[in-house]
Amino acid sequence: MTEVNTRMQFQPSNPSYHPVIAPRNNNDVVSLISPWRVGSMVRCTDCHNSDTSGQGSAIGVNGPHGSIYRPLLKANYSTNEYVTESPRAYALCYQCHDRASILGDESFPLHNVHVSQGRASCSACHDSHGINRMRASSRNHSNLINFDRSIVRPASGALGARVEYEDLGRYSGSCTLVCHGVTHVRFEYGR
Ligand code: HEC
Ligand code: HEC
Ligand code: HEC
Repeated sequence: MTEVNTRMQFQPSNPSYHPVIAPRNNNDVVSLISPWRVGSMVRCTDCHNSDTSGQGSAIGVNGPHGSIYRPLLKANYSTNEYVTESPRAYALCYQCHDRASILGDESFPLHNVHVSQGRASCSACHDSHGINRMRASSRNHSNLINFDRSIVRPASGALGARVEYEDLGRYSGSCTLVCHGVTHVRFEYGR
């Protein structure tokens, strides 16, 4: 479900959110590149900025006034259904989350198989802002999980057709969905 109220997406009482309003301190976030660390806060302008700002290259003006990357992003973020993984495809995320850590499966043990082999964008599984608690439970929308429903479809399980993520503890969970022709019904991962 698309939440258009940005303020609601970053509420500290949400199941998960990027730490714009309040810090997170989630020790499971092992991919952060220094100086980013667990407990850091991020600003809108860490993601939304000119593609030529002083933070990107040295030639442009600072500030979120214009960018060649929609919607006003500082760096490219490819969100199509099939994306060939590269440093550029997810340049925005890789400014703070180490590409080698993500593709090395240091947290979610199936990042590489989905992102590199399955060519699924980060956005097929992750929200970039946060998930409104009024529309989500913490068990189902931890880890910024919010499937892109234009890519991910319901799978029929014992409880009827549904798209569902369930957090089962540190680096483990379960998925019920159909994606890229593959059906998961309470498919569990863990490490
Ligand atoms: C961690 C990076 C990040 C941060 C921090 C961030 N955004 Fe975004 N924002 C994105 C990305 C990526 C998109 C587009 C893709 C998407 O919608 O998931 C986006 C989309 C948007 C959009 C387009 C409409 C929409 O909701 O899709 C607006 C407006 C927006 N952001 C405003 C903000 C504001 C205001 C803040 C600070 C309160 C903020 N963003 C913080 C990454 C970020
Ligand atoms: C400006 C730096 C920055 C950018 C850009 C950024 N992140 Fe993050 N991300 C963070 C920080 C800081 C945390 C929170 C660490 C903590 O728990 O204290 C975080 C946490 C996360 C989490 C864990 C959330 C949770 O609830 O455990 C996920 C998933 C995530 N980011 C995915 C992404 C994706 C996908 C992108 C690209 C769209 C992205 N990030 C871009 C800084 C960033
Ligand atoms: C197939 C779904 C899927 C895709 C695609 C995906 N992720 Fe994740 N990601 C997850 C799940 C599930 C977790 C939570 C693992 C756990 O803690 O149980 C996670 C956790 C994370 C975390 C928090 C832990 C850490 O490593 O710091 C970050 C950051 C993250 N993902 C970033 C990304 C980025 C960046 C991309 C794209 C390059 C991406 N993810 C693509 C499903 C996905």
